[in-house]
Amino acid sequence: MLDRRTLLATGAALMAAPAIAARKSANPNFPKGFYWGAATAPHQVEGNNIASDLWFVENQQPTVFSQPSGDACNSFALWETDLDLVKAMGLNAYRFGIEWARIEPEKGLFSQAMLDHYKAVIDGCHARGLAPIVTFSHFTAPRWFSAQGGWTNPESAQLFARYCDKAMRALGQGIASAITLNEPNILLLLKPMLPPQVWDIQKLTLETAAKRLGVPKYVCANVAGFDDLPALQTGLEAAHKAGKAAIKAVRGDLPVGFSLALMDDQAVGAHSVRDAMRKQLYGNWLEIAKGDDFIGVQNYERALWGDKGRLPAPKGSAVNWSGTEVWAPSLGGAVRFAHEATGVPILVSEHGVGSDDDAVRAKFIPEALAGLKAAIDDGVPVLGYCHWSLLDNFEWIFGYKPKFGLHSVDPVTFARTPKPSAAVYGAIARRNAL
Ligand code: BGC
Repeated sequence: MLDRRTLLATGAALMAAPAIAARKSANPNFPKGFYWGAATAPHQVEGNNIASDLWFVENQQPTVFSQPSGDACNSFALWETDLDLVKAMGLNAYRFGIEWARIEPEKGLFSQAMLDHYKAVIDGCHARGLAPIVTFSHFTAPRWFSAQGGWTNPESAQLFARYCDKAMRALGQGIASAITLNEPNILLLLKPMLPPQVWDIQKLTLETAAKRLGVPKYVCANVAGFDDLPALQTGLEAAHKAGKAAIKAVRGDLPVGFSLALMDDQAVGAHSVRDAMRKQLYGNWLEIAKGDDFIGVQNYERALWGDKGRLPAPKGSAVNWSGTEVWAPSLGGAVRFAHEATGVPILVSEHGVGSDDDAVRAKFIPEALAGLKAAIDDGVPVLGYCHWSLLDNFEWIFGYKPKFGLHSVDPVTFARTPKPSAAVYGAIARRNAL
């Protein structure tokens, strides 16, 4: 949901990119047991997620969504094909989400059939030698939940914990790592970047949804009104804690964390606002992560902070689909900061680039992984790396336009085709070395 990738694609700057120290590591290998994964999210690939909150708002008029998710990649039916793709690349992990709206489509009504479905996906991972890294909520929630105020509802943490408990009892034994919430700070990150009109459209979208349902307030994790943000953060923080406790109550040994949308924030000049901005963008989340087993780092870009705010990217930078700078060393920078700020191990739960030109991706992956390896060599504990994304998929408000996939997907036949970058990434994973 990332206007941050669009809106920052402005003009020129006369600034040179900080030089990246080229270092040769003594040991060329990534750590033993390192997770090499690809990532997806249920709403973005499964299709027909009709009981979810976002499905409803995608199909309102007016809506902030440029198109509805519809069939997506039809991964609800084609999950075995997807797992085969992950295995064929030579990876050993798959990050995917279970969809709360399918498991609890009405408040208190839990679907055994849907739990069985996700159990089959988890078993399918193990059958292929893939560690299942499971997200419990990747932005979407059931429609009934958001129609009761979503994460701004004081009851929300307890509702989320009840779902986590049910899911864990059915699925917990097979999970390798659990991510409670995906990017609960996404709107904090977007707050200073989205122009007022976008906040207005989001608000209008939600007011329309609320009116249609005859409820006072409809709020989603990644679509909310500006004024909802404080209550949303309070609710998400409580939900992470309650969800984690519910997960641990079933399996105390299971590593649990959340994933954070994290830029590589760089200070430019003596009076940079960088540190103040970090407080706004990451809220209490770095503090909260200190009590977790790991933090999921999701990095797509760097931000240059001067004394008055964000500076434009250097002139002539490589750019992504929206014109935003593509700067491979940002991954290493974000990972170093996340560890320094929290002290816990890092799981790169997302990293990628939206581009129609796969040559950009094929070049970007090894360059970014070199920066990650340098951080590991400097002592940062990194558990694994999950590339976003396995497939070209539904990119939230931007619909199907941005292409983040290692595989393209035919929108009519749903046929998946590997892009050259899939072979580049797979070769690194197979070698466990650059
Ligand atoms: C989200 C993904 C999204 C990706 C690319 C992350 O913010 O977790 O769902 O598709 O970025 O924009």
